[in-house]
Amino acid sequence: MMDMTRNDKNPLNGSHAVEVRGLVKHYGETKALDGVDLDVREGTVLGVLGPNGAGKTTLVRILSTLIAPDAGTATVAGFDVVRQPRQLRRTIGLTGQYASVDEKLSGWENLYMIGRLLDLPRKEARSRADELLERFSLTEAAKKAAMHYSGGMRRRLDLAASMIGRPAVLYLDEPTTGLDPRTRNEVWDEVQRMVAEGATVLLTTQYMEEAEQLADQLTVIDRGKVIANGKVDELKARVGGRTLRIRPVSSADVPGMARSLAEAGLDGVAGSQAVPDEGVLLVPILSDEQLTAVVGLLAARGYAIADLGTYLPSLDEVFLSITGQKPSSEDSAQQTEEVAA
Ligand SMILES: Nc1ncnc2c1ncn2[C@@H]1O[C@H](COP(=O)(O)OP(=O)(O)OP(=O)(O)O)[C@@H](O)[C@H]1O
Ligand SMILES: [Mg+2]
Repeated sequence: MMDMTRNDKNPLNGSHAVEVRGLVKHYGETKALDGVDLDVREGTVLGVLGPNGAGKTTLVRILSTLIAPDAGTATVAGFDVVRQPRQLRRTIGLTGQYASVDEKLSGWENLYMIGRLLDLPRKEARSRADELLERFSLTEAAKKAAMHYSGGMRRRLDLAASMIGRPAVLYLDEPTTGLDPRTRNEVWDEVQRMVAEGATVLLTTQYMEEAEQLADQLTVIDRGKVIANGKVDELKARVGGRTLRIRPVSSADVPGMARSLAEAGLDGVAGSQAVPDEGVLLVPILSDEQLTAVVGLLAARGYAIADLGTYLPSLDEVFLSITGQKPSSEDSAQQTEEVAA
């Protein structure tokens, strides 16, 4: 719903920290954004998912006032991206997809300089630099020039830089692409800490695990259009329904169970699937009634069941199902490393 009562004097008074309506950006024939609507509620994380070229970075650039939209509107903390770019920039932090630190300066100098550019007093800029280097495990490398940092270290420095001014709204464009799992976890912890302190985050990612870990709400875009929208579990339920996993006491019963369900028409459109190695039968479930009937039938036929439970599809499966493509995090991980190297 549109919030027409926004109050520019008290920008975070409304419930949406970011509001985007009908956003369009074309590059010649390429429709990078083709009428995008989205909202990020204050104090939450919106995950923007989409395959390569979907328009994620274009969206982040417009919301950062780095490029202008062709049509549509966007406000951040109540400030319009076109009409109030200066006020808007003061409320945001940005970690771009590609590292943007000054090569010749040390890690500490990079952070201190940004702090000073943001008008922090010297003492605070100094302590903020120390604190963020510590949080991102860069204390030992603090005095080294950024040009000697590894790709992962640059990424962490970049993230630290975007957090210096404690922005109310933080954009993270594929923040952990190319990072090792330990560093990725550090970044996730830090993002969660910022959110706990009240920040609003718009995160683009191709890592489904990252979306699951961090995002309250997901928006999937493809070729410049929003194609799905909702909480992680809502998207999973919408796409695939649940799967019932049944393990009989005797794995020799699996084929017989499958036959009984098929005869009774209880195994869903695609049919049930035996996993002989694990001695389990997987049954696609579309309704609570079907679930009850499946369990009832197997009990009536005298099958002894050792274990059963339902699970939702993985977010990878959801992504594949709605975009027709696998999330291609490996490709972009390599790209980022090359650019950073
Ligand atoms: N400056 C530009 N000039 C021409 N075309 C552009 C420009 N920037 C982006 N595009 C095109 O717009 C589309 C969206 O690009 P964008 O970088 O926003 O995608 P993305 O979702 O961030 O992709 P990735 O996952 O690879 O980072 C792509 O087809 C891209 O080639
Ligand atoms: Mg991008």
